[in-house]
Amino acid sequence: MKKFLDLISEEMKKAFGAAGYDRELGKVTLSNRPDLCEYQCNGAMAGAKLYKKAPIMIAKEVAENCGESGIFLSVEAVPPGFLNLKVKEGFVTEYLAGMAESEKFGLEKPENPCKIMVDYGGPNVAKPLHVGHLRPAIIGESIKRIARYAGHDVTGDIHLGDWGLPMGLIITELRERLPELIYFDGTYEGEYPKKAPFTISELEEIYPTASAKSKEDAAYKERAMEATFKLQNGERGYRALWKHIIDISVADLKKNYEKLDVEFDLWKGEADVHDVIPGMVDYMKKEGYAYISEGALVVDVKEDTDTKEIPPCMVLKSDGAALYNTTDLATIIKRMKDYHPDRIIYVADKRQNLYFEQVFRCARKTKLVEPETELLHIGFGTMNGKDGKPFKTRDGGVMRLEYLIKEIEEEMYRKITDNREVEENDARRTAQIVALSAIKYGDLSNQAFKDYAFDIDKFTSFEGDTGPYILYTIVRIKSILNKIKEQDEQLMEKARLREAGSAAEKALMLEVSGFNAMIEDAYKESAPHKVCAYIYDLANAFNRFYHETKIISQEDAEKKAGWVALLLLTKRILETCIDMLGFSAPERM
Ligand code: ARG
Repeated sequence: MKKFLDLISEEMKKAFGAAGYDRELGKVTLSNRPDLCEYQCNGAMAGAKLYKKAPIMIAKEVAENCGESGIFLSVEAVPPGFLNLKVKEGFVTEYLAGMAESEKFGLEKPENPCKIMVDYGGPNVAKPLHVGHLRPAIIGESIKRIARYAGHDVTGDIHLGDWGLPMGLIITELRERLPELIYFDGTYEGEYPKKAPFTISELEEIYPTASAKSKEDAAYKERAMEATFKLQNGERGYRALWKHIIDISVADLKKNYEKLDVEFDLWKGEADVHDVIPGMVDYMKKEGYAYISEGALVVDVKEDTDTKEIPPCMVLKSDGAALYNTTDLATIIKRMKDYHPDRIIYVADKRQNLYFEQVFRCARKTKLVEPETELLHIGFGTMNGKDGKPFKTRDGGVMRLEYLIKEIEEEMYRKITDNREVEENDARRTAQIVALSAIKYGDLSNQAFKDYAFDIDKFTSFEGDTGPYILYTIVRIKSILNKIKEQDEQLMEKARLREAGSAAEKALMLEVSGFNAMIEDAYKESAPHKVCAYIYDLANAFNRFYHETKIISQEDAEKKAGWVALLLLTKRILETCIDMLGFSAPERM
């Protein structure tokens, strides 16, 4: 279906043309004076210069040429030259009826569906997930779901951090503690044990200990770097240990991401491309892209038009070890070979901006991608505490993600059971669902690149621009529909959209009509916050309508059936949108 606003614009363009002006002046936007009109056109203002005529004159002529339109209820030329527009109830109703019947509410299929990879999550193995991992998971998941809904072929990849110095550090620390382990016997040729010589909690202690030691003890760090190099170059025992680290970490990560309703199609990591690296390095050397600088292998990526210094992209460290850049570049090669994506979206901290700029330029310069392949970094800001400083635990430590989730769930549980009799299991389950909406919506409703304050009181509130408010609205609609169904089962079958009978009803219908335009926009800009803004407005419009309208006790069956249809459509759209944001609604709240 064409977009609602486009249909109105077309009509306005016709009027401009009929009055003898450039049709393109007829572009219509939402009104910024909703008290005066629903839509507006500022074309006469722009036309004034072009035609050397007072804008109000143009506006009046255009208004006269709108004549008998199937779309406009009123077209008013107001000084200094605006066109204030209202649309006919029947036109809105027809449009919504079309939405209700079409697949995806009238969102058109893309002409050329894209193959997209979303690289998000990006946790490093052997470290517990902390609040810093929340944003890449939540934002990436939503960007993936929006693009998929918009009709594209999307693959999400977690891109585990599993191949760098941290691995060498863990191996070194293990060797220090348990030198007798078979993994450290260079002469051993047999099979290694199936069971890891450590648990996840031990692993989570080993890494920070090793990391701290390496900062104080240069020789220790030297050993860790050597271990990293050996691991990367295939030392059998180290590879076997590494495999244990991955298996144990991944099992734990899966559990955690599942709780967040974040689902990766691929669980690839930096290590998956280790065998791509030697060929890549040779190629970059042979083609003259890479050269040795202070021992390291680098590719120049600066351009004449740069206004800031862009340092060379390092491809190998001076000790020959692969680094973050190396695996990202090799991953691009592998992705191009295995999937040939049109676009790769990286959801990572905005502080890695320069890093991605270097990697992207290097990939283009060395022709790892096609000229038209898009490489896009969606850089997100920091999640702060209420005090505006990076989010910490009460005692100043880094908050584990599972504790944060637990805390929100407890708060929701308290709210749900406050002054009410609720069955314990039901309440726990509902608290989990609502808590997820609080966390995700609290994050996604902000533009990704902005820092934001994680404010538990605000995010868990049932009022205002929050996840729980949206869910509350959906639950309210469900409950009304259930009651009507109990009263009169047949009415549900007679549900049919009819013309709005009140301003609030029309306002709700107009909000609904913006769905397809909003999705296209949110997809184009990889911007989940646009989905949030839309459903917040929609929920507000619904609640205003609800407060003004006695739906359940309405006697006129036809009116009531019209409302049922509107409620059903509103509910389906809200549910579709929250699914794109990565959460769902409970039956009751
Ligand atoms: N593991 C990285 C980190 O902790 C994030 C990975 C982002 N993705 C990428 N392809 N570099 O900073």
